[in-house]
Amino acid sequence: MVLNRRRFIQASAATVAATSVAGCSSSDVEIDSRLPVGPYNALSTAEEVTQGMDLSGRTALVTGCNSGIGHETMRVLAMRGAHVFGTGRTLEKARQACNSVSGRTTPLALELSDFDSCVDCARAVAAHSDSLDILITNAGIGSFTDFELINGIEKIFVVNYLGHVVLTMNLLPLVRAADRGRIVHVGSQMGYRSAPEGGIDFDNLRGEAGYDAFEAYGRSKLANALFSLKLSQMLDPARTTSNAVHPGFVESNIGRNADGIVGFFYNTVANLIKKDVSEGAATQVYVATNPLLDGVSGAYFENCNPVKINIDNHMFDVALADRLWRETLGMVGGYFEGKIPA
Ligand SMILES: NC(=O)c1ccc[n+]([C@@H]2O[C@H](COP(=O)([O-])OP(=O)(O)OC[C@H]3O[C@@H](n4cnc5c(N)ncnc54)[C@H](OP(=O)(O)O)[C@@H]3O)[C@@H](O)[C@H]2O)c1
Repeated sequence: MVLNRRRFIQASAATVAATSVAGCSSSDVEIDSRLPVGPYNALSTAEEVTQGMDLSGRTALVTGCNSGIGHETMRVLAMRGAHVFGTGRTLEKARQACNSVSGRTTPLALELSDFDSCVDCARAVAAHSDSLDILITNAGIGSFTDFELINGIEKIFVVNYLGHVVLTMNLLPLVRAADRGRIVHVGSQMGYRSAPEGGIDFDNLRGEAGYDAFEAYGRSKLANALFSLKLSQMLDPARTTSNAVHPGFVESNIGRNADGIVGFFYNTVANLIKKDVSEGAATQVYVATNPLLDGVSGAYFENCNPVKINIDNHMFDVALADRLWRETLGMVGGYFEGKIPA
């Protein structure tokens, strides 16, 4: 695997800088006090942000439930009484994960690089339930991924972004049928720290201009945020919200493909400064459940609070979100079964 060590160190340093104990003290990022600000921070856990909450009668779907942040997210939502659909790349993986937690869970297969699988997963949810209160698009692959094309498109973009778009658009009727449904897109601060200049390099989605895994990851995570923004414009926020989150720098399996010296540091030494999964799941669980955020849509959260970004970024770039949406329709629009909101 070819890894650019300088980029890794830059990205790690940036991650550490923005993952402060106080919450968001890095001057690159600050709490957006125009939106409701809660009592939680970088040290809060998913259990803490849902303390005393009763989610019984509510349904949730978490992608990537068999590992890392997704597993903890499913565990806590189910513990609070929600019926959680947990997806794994195979039904067996999802089944094992669901069996490992208490509460009501339903395992489903979802392979994000296979758009038919995304459609089938949404159909399976519809067979079980008339509505979906919470959708958390959590699964993903990291920047330690070799260049690969899937149906002619770069793999990280396909898995982290396009597959989740197909799933989300096919689940949208169910989320809209819920009373104040919430969609939470698990992005990353790499969406503004390591995306290509200009945001999305549309002329390089097939690797035409070369491959930098950090940029590819940043591009996919920026795309998650821009999709969240676009959906927030399509949906009535009083009924359905769409927000993006960064979970923090979290100890999980995302660095499993990292090898050599970089892999050694990422998966050992760096663990000393990472959040554990209970903290890593807190932001997405908070955004998915807290009543303070009723009607809040199109926002971006870090360390359990909405933030604005004070460095060059495209996270709230409406024109780019529109362009991405048009290109996305061209790539995967044929897989949307329901009506697209205007
Ligand atoms: N950890 C961090 O520091 C960090 C920082 C910022 C953002 N995030 C984001 O947090 C999310 C969760 O990551 P994590 O850290 O918990 O990593 P993880 O432990 O590696 O979990 C990733 C999950 O995604 C699933 N997945 C991977 N490829 C998939 C595919 N093609 N189709 C369906 N599912 C697939 C994995 O399934 P398998 O186990 O079967 O591969 C696994 O369940 C990701 O979106 C990641 O980008 C993480």
